[in-house]
Amino acid sequence: MYLGENGDEVWRKSLRDFLLIGEFTCFGILRGTSSPAIVILVLSLLPNTTISMILDSPSFSTTQTQFAGKEVAELARQFGTPLYVYNAAMIAQRIADLAAFDAVRYAQKACGSLAILDRVRRAGAVVDAVSAGEVRRALAAGFDPHHDGPAGDIPGIVYTADIFDRESLDLVVEMGLHVNCGSPDMIEQLGQRRPGAEVTLRINPGFGHGHSQKTNTGGEQSKHGIWHEQVDECLSKADRYGVTVTGLHMHIGSGTDLEHLSQVCQAMERIVGLVGRTVTTISTGGGLPVPYKTGETFLDIARYHELWDATRNRISESLGHRVRLEIEPGRYLVAEAGSLIAEVRAVKKMGSNRFFLLDAGFNDLIRPAMYGSHHPIAVCPQDGQEHERPEVDAIVGGPLCESGDIFTQREGGFVVSRRLPIANVGDYIVLGNAGAYGFAMSSNYNSKTRAAEVMIEDGEAKVIRKRETYADLVRGETIPA
Ligand code: LLP
Repeated sequence: MYLGENGDEVWRKSLRDFLLIGEFTCFGILRGTSSPAIVILVLSLLPNTTISMILDSPSFSTTQTQFAGKEVAELARQFGTPLYVYNAAMIAQRIADLAAFDAVRYAQKACGSLAILDRVRRAGAVVDAVSAGEVRRALAAGFDPHHDGPAGDIPGIVYTADIFDRESLDLVVEMGLHVNCGSPDMIEQLGQRRPGAEVTLRINPGFGHGHSQKTNTGGEQSKHGIWHEQVDECLSKADRYGVTVTGLHMHIGSGTDLEHLSQVCQAMERIVGLVGRTVTTISTGGGLPVPYKTGETFLDIARYHELWDATRNRISESLGHRVRLEIEPGRYLVAEAGSLIAEVRAVKKMGSNRFFLLDAGFNDLIRPAMYGSHHPIAVCPQDGQEHERPEVDAIVGGPLCESGDIFTQREGGFVVSRRLPIANVGDYIVLGNAGAYGFAMSSNYNSKTRAAEVMIEDGEAKVIRKRETYADLVRGETIPA
């Protein structure tokens, strides 16, 4: 089925965001780029809506010849395509945006490449790990599992999950890692192996929200966290093994909004009341959205921190000691820093539809196929020069033998077209905001080798992960005699 992209809907969404933000009497930091004057005009005509500051919304161009100061065509020629490129300075900037929190704990599932982890650490953040593999990555990138962060007083690595597989339990016990328990069974299993441990409990507050139902991590339909009505039971379990609950954590979903993120504050206060004086750290979880479309806006970080800071202060007062406030973003730190560069390998028509087919597919970037996510798409002419080109409606897809291998689709698999400069075979396409859950979710489907990754820093482009080879693809496989 074909649906033309509906501009109205984009505006309706931004208007809704705007009104929501109005309820919290905001607003946001001006981060350069253009602001949607038309929305401001519309809003100023609406009654009872205060616009206290200018809304910050990037505009995404459909032509792009540079990335982080380097020529896109040059990067593609030098390193080959498909290619992930990252702007290191952007990651450092996003960590700095969150400096008001006592700790920024990077959810490395968004992009766990060692060089990225290293730069995150150097910028003063600590890290979250969901598997033994992620723990080992964090160690390899130099995080101190016990005493890290700017003041050296927090665990550099926290294992956060809903289960221990046997390997991760062994590793956590062996290294004495701090654990954020997402199920009562985890308390029991850790208590048996490491009586006297200090833990954090991840609480499911009974509600959640995400950019897609698949990224909503709260409520009865979610498998995540300890159900908010089971806290007493968990405390008895902890007592049985001398385990102390020193932290509480709530992560209600990924890519959510200020309204939902803020609802968590009240739930947190209530749960701290149940656990009591042993609590020394609260974590807001991650979930901070970033704009993927022109018209979408940044979250008001200052306002978000203010709401949490007030919550933390009330909690500190009621407990009689200072409580640390952590945030656990993945997407916010790396999404905008990364792009996927691909080459156009075929341009074809199917009836009235025009397809640009790339050498990158959902094996490289699965978000559109998995959630119907929108990524900015820009054309870079083969010679790297900006030409005036006529615009056309195009469907952008990849090389995989599957009809869902389309970058321009909506949730539910409905293919849509995008208004783009006309592209020819040999031109490059830049899929923007691909740093979070891009390479990290890539696969070898159709026996495609995974892309190379390049980091651009101080004007230099360096390979941080080599392109996979056929040897990598079949490593570990054997044909029995
Ligand atoms: N903390 C926990 C416990 C999480 O499960 C997650 C994400 C985060 C923090 C970071 O969330 P963020 O700040 O990145 O929203 N693959 C999906 C996103 C899945 C998120 C999984 N958990 C996507 O591509 O949108």
